[in-house]
Amino acid sequence: MAGIQIAIDGPAASGKSTVARLVAARLGGFYINTGDMYRTVTRAALDAGLDPDAQPDAVVALLGNLELRYRLVDGVPVLHLNDQPVPQEGIRAPEVASQVSFVARIPGVRDWLRERQRETRALGTIVMEGRDIGTVILPDASHKFFVTASPMERARRRLAQAGEVTDGATLASVAAEIAERDRIDSTRAVAPLRPAEDAVHINTDDLTPDQVADRIVACVQEGKA
Ligand code: DC
Repeated sequence: MAGIQIAIDGPAASGKSTVARLVAARLGGFYINTGDMYRTVTRAALDAGLDPDAQPDAVVALLGNLELRYRLVDGVPVLHLNDQPVPQEGIRAPEVASQVSFVARIPGVRDWLRERQRETRALGTIVMEGRDIGTVILPDASHKFFVTASPMERARRRLAQAGEVTDGATLASVAAEIAERDRIDSTRAVAPLRPAEDAVHINTDDLTPDQVADRIVACVQEGKA
């Protein structure tokens, strides 16, 4: 029997990755992080010396050299680029964080990734997180959630994540970087960040990841969302 699909969308640093991973573990599903796919394309573009904002066509041309997909390793989906597992430190680097929104607004990149994201349905039950999962990638998902947190709380969480911010970053500078990424993600012409009409909204400001995961699992088990 086909598995269920759970779509979890939300802005940067809203806590959705931690929550999506917990939900997948509790439901025995596979966790798919589509932001990592955009980050991997961004890393490849930067490594090729491209400026994604100024050279969108060159980024699309580069895709012809890339084979990107999730493969199961010991039962866990691991993102692979050209047969190699994608190292987290490379795609979490500050230069990737500052450029990824430019890559994510290139229509040719989104088209290319859409198919690679949809093909993960073949794994079975999936918990897929991103910005447009409920609206574009899996509009027929069994359950949809939109996870948010206030800008300051998101900046606090991002600052606490080692490696993702530049040395000397402050709460204010991280909040500004997140706000700029939100702006680009929400105003782009193709698949902007926005909740699906049938998504359940969860504000995570005063909730732990476990509490958010509990709510989502309860909704899934009660057939809501
Ligand atoms: O979730 P994240 O911060 O790792 O995502 C990185 C970037 O990728 C983010 O700026 C928006 C983009 N993205 C997107 O446009 N669509 C998705 N489904 C996932 C991420």
